[in-house]
Amino acid sequence: MRIGIIGAGSMAAALGGGWARVGHELLIGARSARSARDLADTINAGTEPARHRVGAATIAEAMDFAEVVLLAVPVAALTELLDEHGERLADRVVIDCTNAFQPDESAPDGATAFVLSEPAVAERIASRASRARVVKAFNLLAAEVWAGEDRVFDGVRLAVPFCGDDETAMRIVADLAEDLALQPFPAGGLHRARYLEATAVFTVGLWFAGLDARAALPPLTAAFAVAD
Ligand SMILES: NC(=O)c1ccc[n+]([C@@H]2O[C@H](COP(=O)([O-])OP(=O)(O)OC[C@H]3O[C@@H](n4cnc5c(N)ncnc54)[C@H](OP(=O)(O)O)[C@@H]3O)[C@@H](O)[C@H]2O)c1
Repeated sequence: MRIGIIGAGSMAAALGGGWARVGHELLIGARSARSARDLADTINAGTEPARHRVGAATIAEAMDFAEVVLLAVPVAALTELLDEHGERLADRVVIDCTNAFQPDESAPDGATAFVLSEPAVAERIASRASRARVVKAFNLLAAEVWAGEDRVFDGVRLAVPFCGDDETAMRIVADLAEDLALQPFPAGGLHRARYLEATAVFTVGLWFAGLDARAALPPLTAAFAVAD
């Protein structure tokens, strides 16, 4: 697929690198031409021989080129980005991997903790770019995890829960997760994306506190997830 990556930071490198390796056509669009070129060069260097060379472009060019757009920028950048380019996202599958983390000022001294600066970023993107087919995905884990190769833990392949309203867009995101050797977990409509956003801030808080979030969740067979 033609994927436009908006942003040239950690998430752009992690997800873009993986998709380039399996043969997707990528254009990195960043506000700094230098950053876009540097990331494209880095990905190209790591994917020899490549079916497609990753290119560097402006944000507008990357959106115009793409069937799928990954928004890999800070939440604080979204208002301006969508005001300027929202119309360009029409008919695109737009993957929102953002997290609206901000420091939890009420955390005890020395503790690293976060709260959300807003409760529903993906819904805001969809309402601003009303013709985009927005899917929330890949926000739960650190870029280093998405960039890793061996994501099978205790015999279970790492899953990617994702939320969206457009059936075709959901299927495309599922395929893109599988391309990264991850297990897609369709998790409902875009109105549920806020739960993914809340899960991220809650889980990351546990990890920063040194607690293994995984230990709080039993396997499916022990979860009593049956209708009475
Ligand atoms: N890193 C993670 O582990 C992780 C995990 C899950 C979700 N996320 C989310 O993914 C998103 C990207 O995170 P990241 O870690 O990749 O960030 P990052 O490494 O800091 O990169 C952010 C990118 O966004 C660009 N950017 C910043 N402000 C911008 C603006 N106003 N307009 C256009 N571009 C702008 C930056 O450009 P400059 O270089 O020019 O500043 C940079 O290319 C964030 O929303 C984050 O919450 C991150």
